[in-house]
Order: sequence, then C-alpha cells, then structure tokens
Amino acid sequence: MSSSPPTNKPKIPLPWKTRVAISFLSALSDASRRSNGTVNRGFLKFLDRKCSANITPVNGVFTKDVTVDPERNIWFRLFTPTDAVTVDGGDADDKTASLPVVIFFHGGGFTYLSPASASYDAVCRRFCRKMSVVVVSVNYRLTPEHRYPSQYDDGEEVLKFLDENKTVLPENADVSKCFLAGDSAGANLAHHVAVRVCKAGLQNIQVVGLISIQPFFGGEERTESEVRLEGSPLVSMARTDWMWKVFLPEGSDRDHGAANVSGPNSEDLSGLDFPDTLIFVGGFDPLNDWQKRYYDWLRKNGKEVQIIEYPNMIHAFYVFPDLPESSQLISQVKDFINKKRVSNSK
Ligand SMILES: *[C@@H]1O[C@H](CO)[C@@H](O)[C@H](O)[C@H]1NC(C)=O
Ligand SMILES: *[C@@H]1O[C@H](CO)[C@@H](O)[C@H](O)[C@H]1NC(C)=O
Ligand SMILES: *[C@@H]1O[C@H](CO)[C@@H](O)[C@H](O)[C@H]1NC(C)=O
Repeated sequence: MSSSPPTNKPKIPLPWKTRVAISFLSALSDASRRSNGTVNRGFLKFLDRKCSANITPVNGVFTKDVTVDPERNIWFRLFTPTDAVTVDGGDADDKTASLPVVIFFHGGGFTYLSPASASYDAVCRRFCRKMSVVVVSVNYRLTPEHRYPSQYDDGEEVLKFLDENKTVLPENADVSKCFLAGDSAGANLAHHVAVRVCKAGLQNIQVVGLISIQPFFGGEERTESEVRLEGSPLVSMARTDWMWKVFLPEGSDRDHGAANVSGPNSEDLSGLDFPDTLIFVGGFDPLNDWQKRYYDWLRKNGKEVQIIEYPNMIHAFYVFPDLPESSQLISQVKDFINKKRVSNSK
C-alpha cells in the first residue's frame, strides 16, 4: 500500500511509547484505505475505539450528544465544565454568561474518526477542564463516502443551529465569545467554516478567534518540507494525495481553493471580518511549509495572526497527553482565549 521508503527517515525525538502508538495507527489506517478510493469501515470499527457521552461528571466534565440533522448524521458532543472558574468581568450578567464556547473539528484526513473516538473525546475533555470553556465537538460527514463540500456544509450547519438554538448550550455559555478550533483536516474545516460564517453573518454567535492546530492544506507543488520530511510519522505524500483525491471534486487538482488556500483559487478575505487566528506548527510535520504559507497569506490580507512553532514535534503531537508539549499547547490556547475574554468585554 502507501508505505513510504524507509531510507532517509528523519530522526525525531519521541518517547518510545508514543512512537509505537503512532506506527501502529499509521499501519492500520494504511491498511484500511483501498486503492479504488474506498475505505474498509468494518475493519476500522475495531481500531477506532468509541466512547459514549456521560452526563455524570468525570474529572469535572460532563458530556451530552446533541442531534442537528439525523438524516445526514450531523450531531455534536457538548462538553461542560462543572466547576468552572468564572472570570469576573464586573457586572452581574458576566457571572451568568461567562464561559467561552469552543467549536471544535476533529482531524483524521476528512476520512477517519469522530467526536466519540476515544482520543478526541479525551482531547475535548482536557480543553474543557483546563481552559474552563464549553466545547462543541462536531460530527461531520466523512470521505470518501461524502466529498467536499459536505464537511464544510455540516460545519456551517452546526453554527447556524447554535445561532438559532443557543438554549441547548449551558446557561453560562457566552455565545458572543465563540472560537472555532480544529487540528489537521479539522483545522482546514475550521478555516473554511470561518470564511463562510463571515460571509453569511450570524445573529447571536460571534466568532472572535480561530485556533488552527497543524492545519491540513496542500497543493500540486511538492513543498520543501514535504520532500525533506517524507518518512516522518502519520503524514506522507502518498497518504495526503489519497485524501485530497477522495475529498476534492472529481476532476479537480490539489490547487483547488479548499486545499491550496493561499493559491490563485483562494477566497478573497480582504473584505471579511476574519477572526484573529492562532496557528500551531511542528518542525517535523511535513505540512509545515503549507501552514507557514497560510500564516503569510493571512498576514498579507491584513488579518491578526500569530504562529507558534514546536521545532521537535510531529503532526498531531498534541493528541498524545504524555508529551509535555501537549500541555504547553493547551495553556497557549488558554492564554489566547483569555485575552479575547478580557479584550472583548465591555
Ligand atoms: C473497492 O474494493 C473493495 C474491496 O476489494 C470492493 O469491495 C468494493 O466494491 C470496491 N469499490 C469500488 C467502488 O470499486
Ligand atoms: C433549532 O432547533 C430546532 C429544534 O431542534 C430545529 O428544528 C431547527 O432547525 C434548529 N435551527 C437550525 C438553524 O438548525
Ligand atoms: C498554489 O497554487 C499556485 C497556482 O497553481 C501555485 O503557484 C502555488 O505553488 C500553489 N501553492 C503551493 C504551496 O503549492
């Protein structure tokens, strides 16, 4: 299948446990992808361990699944902190509505995983607990069964649903401080959903920030980092080529605006009130050239954007809670959110 040449593997400083877990994941996901552009979902069922929502608080967080559209299987898992420390904003209203809302899109190349996957359930619990935020983790339709733009449609649909139905959120959720967040393909999704809601406009929800963790972007060109880091964990050109092929509209190439965001087919952002953005990149992530171009492009468009680089980290590192860098990333996201919490309050 799509195994990469073992020759010039970059030397990456990772604990052996993480390394083993990653090799295992890569091998299994490679084995599930068929060359005819389909995925063996039956096989994946055994690998992608799911956990259900739990209304009983565990470590200060309870969860609940909310259906948005049963026909298309759009739903989200809602994570609520039980003992949230409220930031004192001064007046009485702030006490009843003080938790920012993070709308999160999981990664997995648009093909894999869901908010119920054990790894992402754990990620969102950590976000919720450590940042004192409400997390809405979105279930969107996957490729190859559903191509672009289904995933963006589903993301936008969830925002519209929340905009109209904010009572599904806990009473102390503050929808005037919403953040879009995602990692990998989820960060690609978060970007495109941000563009869409900037254009469409929402009544109640205000998206004040975008947290873009190692976004999955691409193009026809092979970037320097893609070539140099071929053979590093999880991401390879064979894998990303497959993912774009089953995601993008039939007949289009990787310079489509969904993948090559900063290319000639990109959206014109200049007139949009695009949310302030925080981008994370890893030095051993083959996608980091694309991510830096994304940063440059947002800056060129006059957007407020910040980039944080982890030189020794691979793609998806923050999903592994044993890595100290994972906790560091969470506290940086927390700082970003708290700054907006303060600066946007009257
Ligand atoms: C792809 O291959 C699998 C396994 O060989 C087969 O079951 C499936 O029907 C094929 N799908 C298409 C669209 O060719
Ligand atoms: C708000 O919730 C109601 C009831 O579940 C639903 O019928 C309606 O479509 C929702 N609004 C949006 C914009 O999805
Ligand atoms: C995006 O597309 C343009 C035009 O095809 C191309 O010149 C550019 O190299 C692409 N960007 C990347 C990073 O591939």
